[in-house]
Amino acid sequence: MAKSIKNICCIGAGYVGGPTMTMIAAKCPHIIVNVVDINEKRIAAWNDPDVENIPIYEPGLSDLVGQTRGENLFFSTDVDAAIKAADMIFISVNTPTKTYGVGKGMAADLKYIELCARQIAAVATTDKIIVEKSTLPVRTAEALRSILDHTGNGVQFDILSNPEFLAEGTAVSDLLHPDRVLIGGEQTENGKKAQKALVDVYSNWVPKERILMTNVWSSELSKLTANAFLAQRVSSINALSELCEVTEADVNEVARAIGTDSRIGSKFLKASVGFGGSCFQKDILNLVYISQTYGLQEVADYWEQVIIMNDHQKRRFAKKIVKTLFNTVSGKKIAIMGWSFKKDTNDTRESAAIYVADYLLNEQAEITVYDPKVTAEQIYSDLNYLGTRSDEENRRLLKVVTDPKIAVEKAHATAILTEWDEFTEFNWKNMYDSMLKPAFLFDGRMLLDHEELKSIGFEVYTIGKG
Ligand SMILES: NC(=O)c1ccc[n+]([C@@H]2O[C@H](COP(=O)([O-])OP(=O)(O)OC[C@H]3O[C@@H](n4cnc5c(N)ncnc54)[C@H](O)[C@@H]3O)[C@@H](O)[C@H]2O)c1
Repeated sequence: MAKSIKNICCIGAGYVGGPTMTMIAAKCPHIIVNVVDINEKRIAAWNDPDVENIPIYEPGLSDLVGQTRGENLFFSTDVDAAIKAADMIFISVNTPTKTYGVGKGMAADLKYIELCARQIAAVATTDKIIVEKSTLPVRTAEALRSILDHTGNGVQFDILSNPEFLAEGTAVSDLLHPDRVLIGGEQTENGKKAQKALVDVYSNWVPKERILMTNVWSSELSKLTANAFLAQRVSSINALSELCEVTEADVNEVARAIGTDSRIGSKFLKASVGFGGSCFQKDILNLVYISQTYGLQEVADYWEQVIIMNDHQKRRFAKKIVKTLFNTVSGKKIAIMGWSFKKDTNDTRESAAIYVADYLLNEQAEITVYDPKVTAEQIYSDLNYLGTRSDEENRRLLKVVTDPKIAVEKAHATAILTEWDEFTEFNWKNMYDSMLKPAFLFDGRMLLDHEELKSIGFEVYTIGKG
């Protein structure tokens, strides 16, 4: 008989831990869910009396937190207490690309995972099911097992892999109606029981046929593979976008034409300034690194090309702005609309906007940024992280505004870098009137009605159209 789970702990209250645990709490009122994190500021924000101030913006999330927080959902910095009380522990900490040592710039940095495992091993006094929720290199469970089994305190640990497939911006609906839930388990009797215990949690709202069970290694590798395939589609259509621009083909028309082929499918065929986000790049780099460590250089080269194409697309867009503005943007004001890596999230990790802005600042442009959800401090922190110039210089050359009309005032050009819906509702005639002429508009998301913009008087450049 599988253990019936009554108390869940989740280590890591980020973009994955926060929303997934909120959904579990909402759908399983009989389970106590403790979400813990070492980041005190983040936990304080999750506990803010006004649910609109929770640290992660996702449509529908604040309502769900409002319904469950203080009932069976709790946010705290007391990691030890939550570990002790739990039957099941989700590890949902960050796994960024390594910035030092062996595998620098490619391998996943597993230090946060390892710290969690050591802490669980040190604190646990009763049997626990450990669930890898973070995205991890294939065979990480082996390392976890080795740390957990060397505690000598007689506690039994079962390790499951349950990667998260939610997309930021649609996290709540993705969690509510997942295409599938993947649960990888060890192929032992205890492993199977642990798998069943997690199936029982999800069965509270996910249809059984959508819950897939595999061995641990397939599950770990499937998450990296899913991101690699998705990112590959973006790079494929982006590669074609450049060809469209020189051949007078229209990438939207090409995407529609191929997307109606049921073998190809219509999703993820939108050309853009390049993919961003915390996952695609780091997970592909990780896949490349894993392939290299197994001596599979051709496999590594194949996947690395997806990243090379993406870097090219971001640079190409920035170069196009400079070239179109008569080969110089020095001292020219450029308005950037959107800083988050996609709409409906305040996450800016690896956002194309950061790299486009950095390129333009190197060309001595003066930039004004408007984003509906990203704070000025986040924007400066993203730029400072690149280390291209001092914080002081970044603040001098780039201004963040909360009114889009101010962003475009006396600007030589406006660049759309995130596909926020509200940009389509702007009064573009008024925007045009307050810009310098000729007024250039660069649409990095193929978001706006370009014929209308041209009729207003804009000089329009868009990805994927000559
Ligand atoms: N963001 C996404 O869209 C997404 C989707 C699917 C999977 N993932 C994966 O999920 C994992 C988490 O991603 P995220 O975006 O939520 O990251 P995040 O950086 O938003 O959150 C991770 C949290 O873990 C906390 N943490 C780190 N070490 C800790 C420790 N020892 N004890 C307690 N807390 C600790 C950090 O303080 C941070 O708040 C990553 O492996 C990522 O690849 C992310």
